[in-house]
Amino acid sequence: MKIVVLNHKMNLNYEEIKKYIKALENYKDKVVIMPSSIYAGKFIDNNYKTGLQNIYCEDKGMFTGEISPMQAKSLGIKYVLIGHSERRNIFKEDDELINKKVKSALKNNLKVILCIGDNLNENINEALLKQITNDLKYINEDVIIAYEPVYAIGTGQVPSVQDIEKRITYIKSLVNTKVLYGGSINSNNIKELNKISNLDGYLIGSSSLDIEEVIKILEVVV
Ligand code: PGA
Repeated sequence: MKIVVLNHKMNLNYEEIKKYIKALENYKDKVVIMPSSIYAGKFIDNNYKTGLQNIYCEDKGMFTGEISPMQAKSLGIKYVLIGHSERRNIFKEDDELINKKVKSALKNNLKVILCIGDNLNENINEALLKQITNDLKYINEDVIIAYEPVYAIGTGQVPSVQDIEKRITYIKSLVNTKVLYGGSINSNNIKELNKISNLDGYLIGSSSLDIEEVIKILEVVV
């Protein structure tokens, strides 16, 4: 079964979250929800597979505003997204911090989804190799990878199916693991994307906020 991750980013208010939880009741086994962390407990109480969009690299201490992997685990969180391009670009997270976060999350038995991706005008394979090498330094455990070309996030600009397939093959030649694709996935392009044979799932941002869209996508994927 393909992994479908719904990344809400910093969206939806509490009333909308309550509606969302009801509306996806019949689909909860088919998705991993990554809501704003303040709503994570609500999804867990309703038996959704729930993840966090970010996590810190220490278990406890004086780190105002952060959430630790130990706390996440104790709440029932299953997955964590690490290294999303918005964390790298807006919050200036570097590969060294990302590597620490991955280690710490794994130590707490969380499933890690590591996001990597190329910018326009850079050598794609070199960019992917650098991120994988640095982010997964001294790590032998299984880590899921989400391939998200930075220019495809929230833009509607999706690479061709052939290009995505090539990148997935390349990533799998470096790390023997599951690889997801993310970037402007919607109910119109999912049929085409779903033809990519070596893909293990999807990381969905904007379209995850629209319940009808989510259901249409799931009907193609699952
Ligand atoms: P998008 O975001 O689907 O809105 O492009 C994907 C992501 O950032 O994970």
